[in-house]
Amino acid sequence: MLRSTVASLLASALLLPQVTGQATFRNPVIYEDFPDNDISVGPDNAFYFSASNFHYSPGAPILKSFDLVNWQLIGHSIPKLEFGDGYNLPASGERAYRGGTWASSLRYRKSDKTWYWIGCTNFWNTWVYTAPSVTGPWVRAANIGPGGTCYYDNGLLFDDDDTPYVVYTKDATVNVAQLAADGLSQVKSVNVVNASMVGADSIEGNRLYKINGTYYILNDKPGSTTYIWKSRSPWGPYTSKILVENIKPPLNGGGSPHQGSLVQTPEGDWHYMSFTWAFPSGRLPVLAPIEWGSDGFPTLVSGPNGGWGDSYPTPLTAHPMPNWTATYTFQGPTLPPAFEWNHNPDTTKYTVNNGLTLSTASITNDVYSARNTLTHRVHGEYPAGTVRIDFSNMADGDRVALAAFRDRSAYIGVHRDGSTYTLTAKFNMTLDEWGGPTLDNGTVVATVKLLANTSKTVWLRTDMDVRPDGSNNATFSYSADGESFVQLGETYKLYTGWAFFLGYRFGILNWATKALGGSVKVLSFTVA
Ligand SMILES: *[C@@H]1O[C@H](CO)[C@@H](O)[C@H](O)[C@H]1NC(C)=O
Ligand SMILES: *[C@@H]1O[C@H](CO)[C@@H](O)[C@H](O)[C@H]1NC(C)=O
Ligand SMILES: *[C@@H]1O[C@H](CO)[C@@H](O)[C@H](O)[C@H]1NC(C)=O
Ligand SMILES: *[C@@H]1O[C@H](CO)[C@@H](O)[C@H](O)[C@H]1NC(C)=O
Ligand SMILES: *[C@@H]1O[C@H](CO)[C@@H](O)[C@H](O)[C@H]1NC(C)=O
Ligand SMILES: *[C@@H]1O[C@H](CO)[C@@H](O)[C@H](O)[C@H]1NC(C)=O
Ligand SMILES: *[C@@H]1O[C@H](CO)[C@@H](O)[C@H](O)[C@H]1NC(C)=O
Repeated sequence: MLRSTVASLLASALLLPQVTGQATFRNPVIYEDFPDNDISVGPDNAFYFSASNFHYSPGAPILKSFDLVNWQLIGHSIPKLEFGDGYNLPASGERAYRGGTWASSLRYRKSDKTWYWIGCTNFWNTWVYTAPSVTGPWVRAANIGPGGTCYYDNGLLFDDDDTPYVVYTKDATVNVAQLAADGLSQVKSVNVVNASMVGADSIEGNRLYKINGTYYILNDKPGSTTYIWKSRSPWGPYTSKILVENIKPPLNGGGSPHQGSLVQTPEGDWHYMSFTWAFPSGRLPVLAPIEWGSDGFPTLVSGPNGGWGDSYPTPLTAHPMPNWTATYTFQGPTLPPAFEWNHNPDTTKYTVNNGLTLSTASITNDVYSARNTLTHRVHGEYPAGTVRIDFSNMADGDRVALAAFRDRSAYIGVHRDGSTYTLTAKFNMTLDEWGGPTLDNGTVVATVKLLANTSKTVWLRTDMDVRPDGSNNATFSYSADGESFVQLGETYKLYTGWAFFLGYRFGILNWATKALGGSVKVLSFTVA
């Protein structure tokens, strides 16, 4: 009796922190697509989180936190994706879907007060970007190993004596490279671990740490298992233990977390930030405490659900950050960091000044080849995006739209043909999910012709259910006053495949089908 009362009090303490004063946080800590995290501590003792964003530009988003729970997107390590022509969506048709940044590493180096980002991008080259401040200016400092040296899924460590090391995968082997003192070229590389040593076919997501004089490699078998390896020398020999394996996820319908990074709080407590695969939303960061055993290996603290907890006590005193949801009015002169373009934008074709003016930048019928699509990650389980657009300056043949955007997309927009303006819902624009060709330019599912005397300003809205165990429904609607919305078209089913690696985003698209010269003005954009 007493025991069950205590148990239920404990349970309610976890659910209702305000009742007991025991502060807790909930997983995912960010209900947004920020995969492949590498978290480290900056010179100001804040935490910095580097993520992947593939073919979106700018690349390699950086988040900041003071408490590991509340995060803010503050910038990017790669101002422009300069890894090949395809990143500019040229008229010749090259594209870089699924290229760009993935599983890379960000560290602050005390000796030269410099930030280093290192990653392998397409086409299998490793690049180093550096900056004097985490918010920039970031510059491309080196290409390590032209000719195909790829530090695949890498982790950077500046040792206590300042020597730079990078751990990475090559085929099914794990290797540690020592870099030159300036961090910009390779001195040597040694194969230290093989996937076969743990009975795995492949091994990924490498991180390298030095903790109390011992070197640790964190990595994973795709889909299931996190390993941690330790050695007295960076060159091995390493012994390993499993940190998590097929652990119950904190989110219904999410994947078992198994890749990420370890981080220590100023109080000395350690946490593992991983992510759960949760399409159509994306890969959502999840946090859990770890404890170190007397054998020098950590174990994960399980949560109230017996697995990776959906809640835990907060690691540190809460330090709120600005809301993820917001209304943007594009005062300028630059875009907030929460916005990323699909591939590099044509910077001559947009201005941010008391509204975002988008001039058409491509002539195409394929949204995946149209330049200057501006995106914003969807937030939460039921994201809603509402954009207010002045389309009075569209040219004949132009299209402007708000999309649920990824490898399978749908939109509501305005099409101009001659002097006719038509509200249009178009579904099923389909890109090969492995980054190949466009398979379908979509089907118009509903239209409403606008009368010649109606206002050339419209609100377009999309509402989604992106829970991995949810309906995956998306609806599209329009409004003349921003108050009452009318749905256009039936429900669109969001795609839940993982191969594209990225989740749905809001996409603001504006392109020409006949000739360049037209433009639209985005007056506001509300992400809720
Ligand atoms: C990894 O496998 C290769 C090929 O079998 C072998 O030559 C190498 O010694 C192995 N590495 C380690 C660290 O055991
Ligand atoms: C590192 O050493 C300190 C001091 O001996 C100890 O308190 C701490 O638990 C150690 N940390 C790890 C991760 O072994
Ligand atoms: C964040 O947004 C939500 C929903 O609009 C609102 O309830 C909350 O007060 C906001 N929080 C802050 C810190 O502004
Ligand atoms: C999509 O439209 C482009 C023209 O913009 C065309 O080249 C391509 O063949 C179309 N793709 C499909 C699958 O119809
Ligand atoms: C969507 O596009 C795919 C690829 O072309 C096609 O197989 C499918 O039939 C299309 N679905 C609809 C509803 O048009
Ligand atoms: C626009 O024109 C239609 C018919 O041509 C008319 O019924 C309507 O009242 C007009 N609306 C405005 C705002 O003038
Ligand atoms: C999802 O859409 C389908 C088709 O319109 C509808 O039958 C179903 O009720 C929707 N589910 C939710 C949760 O809204």
